[in-house]
Amino acid sequence: MKIFLDSSDINEIKPLNKTGLIDGVTTNPSLLAKQQGNFKQILKSIANEVKGPISAEVTAIKADKMIDEARILQKIAKNIVIKIPLTLDGLIACNYLIKKKFMVNVTLCFSVSQALLAAKAGATFISPFVGRLDDIGENGLQLIKDIRTVYDNFNFKTKILAASIRTVTHIQEVLKIGADVVTIPPKIFHELYKHELTVKGLETFLSDWKKSGKQIN
Ligand code: G3P
Repeated sequence: MKIFLDSSDINEIKPLNKTGLIDGVTTNPSLLAKQQGNFKQILKSIANEVKGPISAEVTAIKADKMIDEARILQKIAKNIVIKIPLTLDGLIACNYLIKKKFMVNVTLCFSVSQALLAAKAGATFISPFVGRLDDIGENGLQLIKDIRTVYDNFNFKTKILAASIRTVTHIQEVLKIGADVVTIPPKIFHELYKHELTVKGLETFLSDWKKSGKQIN
């Protein structure tokens, strides 16, 4: 399975990329809008830092303009993946771009029927938004389960990229279900490795070692 960071902030991405555990990055217009500077340079810096797939989203509404924007985004870096919203025009654009050998991440997915159409359009990735469904009292994890079932039933190759992640529990559950990728906000990534018993256990080890007067040298 793959771990992507959900961020457009190179200063968040760089230190976490040093772990060697980051397989890609997802951005979106809201995340990019928060960053100062030229968006192409921001995406280029991210694509230079993380060698895996870097999702960059179109902002056009009509398919022909989405395709024009996709061509502009693709010129930024070879590892740019074109992020396309799950609309009728988005499905048309996805179908076209896949046939032209682009990688496409179909985003803003909130139902199995949407995910089905994205897979039939040949999407490289589908991004179901877990947290935003939970935010309205629905069950985001159930959506991941249902998409996994449908994709497996028909051997669709589209990768499930669980998005809109709010908690470590979300991550643990989508991986148990069998999502192919999870895209994680940096602040949640930092919660993945932290546990109070690890901290306490290390303190005890080091304290006992220090008392022993022994040294590794
Ligand atoms: O970037 C796509 C998705 O991860 C956004 O999540 O937190 O804005 O619902 P969020």
